[in-house]
Formats: sequence, structure tokens, C-alpha cells
Amino acid sequence: MTSEEPALVARHLHHTFGAGDETVCVLRDVSLELYPGQMLLLMGPSGSGKSTLLAVLSGLLRPDRGEVRVLGEDLWRLSEARRERFRLRHFGFVFQGFNLFPSLTASEQLEMILRWGEGASRRNARSCVAAMLELLGLGRRGHLRADRLSGGEKQRVAVGRALLKQPRFCFADEPTAALDWAHGEQVIQLLRSAARDRGAVLFVVGHDPRLVPYADRVVHLADGRLAPAPGEVLP
Ligand SMILES: Nc1ncnc2c1ncn2[C@@H]1O[C@H](COP(=O)(O)OP(=O)(O)O)[C@@H](O)[C@H]1O
Ligand SMILES: [Mg+2]
Repeated sequence: MTSEEPALVARHLHHTFGAGDETVCVLRDVSLELYPGQMLLLMGPSGSGKSTLLAVLSGLLRPDRGEVRVLGEDLWRLSEARRERFRLRHFGFVFQGFNLFPSLTASEQLEMILRWGEGASRRNARSCVAAMLELLGLGRRGHLRADRLSGGEKQRVAVGRALLKQPRFCFADEPTAALDWAHGEQVIQLLRSAARDRGAVLFVVGHDPRLVPYADRVVHLADGRLAPAPGEVLP
């Protein structure tokens, strides 16, 4: 446990998909706290609602009921425009499928985040991107188009894109699932050390048990309910 205040507190989340006879109750009274500098690993069977919970915590999907307080804001009571701004400012995302633009180079994918989103000068953007590519172990690969990069390299670019603006939260949905473990391990190490170094929250969905040693806490979602992993106690 940590004495620090949680950066995100979720309380009594409920969510159901569908209507009539076709309803699936995905979240049943889920409560959770996320702490700065820590990685929480969310595990659970396929279809158990892991991506749904990530979407609710990160402002992408409004829950039927419950509250998500982030950095003192009640996320689902903000106007849509404010929530969107909050998300852009504080949240980075990494998904299983990389979602890169195939015809842009690794450097260009990262530069556009700073130039469009943050209005950085070309020179500033270039030097930030060069430093990030070094951190990602891609110092010599920045000139290559995404479709020339391997899966592991693409996912490292996606990690760089998520971290470039130094967000307070990084949400990663099965970030290593499409990679062999050698590359998956690089990706999780990068995410975790970036979170530790910057005191950011890292929320990872994954089912590979090899991720467990990297996590500060592990929780399981099944039948809509969150349970601590064996040997863990939820705060
Ligand atoms: N937009 C949606 N509409 C209807 N059902 C959905 C939708 N998204 C997810 N579901 C259902 O909710 C359940 C949980 O999905 P998901 O959160 O994607 O699970 P996981 O990420 O653990 O595999 C599944 O039964 C899925 O079919
Ligand atoms: Mg999922």
C-alpha cells in the first residue's frame, strides 16, 4: 500500500449492454482506486468486461451508474467538451492494434501529436521526438514508415505516442497481446518505467501471466465483479 492519495477513484460502477432479453450485465458494483506511479493489471476471461471498464474509467463510455473521480474532477459530470479536453490533456492510450498511420514515418506519427495537439514549434517537436525515439530504442528507425516496422517496433511507437505529452494516466488495453514475449516485455517495461519515473498511473488490461511481476497490483474481473488476485487485498 501507499500513503499517497489515489489519482482516480471509481465507485459503484454498473454497466449493462443491450436491451430487453438481450442484455449483458458487464459491471456490477465495481469500485477501484488507482495510485500515482503504480501499475494496476486487470485480468479476466475474454468477454468479462475489461475493455468496458477501461473505457468507463478513461472517459470513453458513460456507465449506467457510478462515479469516476479523477484528479478531483467527477469525470462523468463534466460536459462532453470538458471531458474531451480533460482526456486529451491527462490520458494516453495504447491499444492492441497499434493504430498507426501506415504511410507516415515513426517520427511523423509522434511529431503530429505535438504539433497539432500542443502547437509545438517544428524544432521543439523534433527534439522531443528524437529523445522519445531514443527512449523507445528506435533512435535509428524514426525515418521508416509504419508499414516497414515490425509489430514490436510499431507498438513501441504507439507507446511513445501515448507518453509524449507526459499524461498523468496511461490506459493500455492488451498492449502486448499481438507481440511475441520478447517484444511484449520491452513494451511493458517501457510503460512501467515511464509511469514510475513520472508518477503517472498505468492501467493495463492483459491476460498473460508474465505481466504479473511488473504490476504493483493485480485485480480480476469475472461475472461483472472485481476481485483481488490471490494474496492481494483491495484497498
Ligand atoms: N458496444 C457493445 N454493445 C453490446 N455488447 C457489448 C459492447 N461492448 C462489449 N459488449 C459485450 O460486453 C461484454 C464485455 O466486453 P468487453 O468489455 O469487450 O470484454 P473483454 O475486454 O474483457 O474481453 C461482452 O459480452 C461483449 O460482447
Ligand atoms: Mg477487451
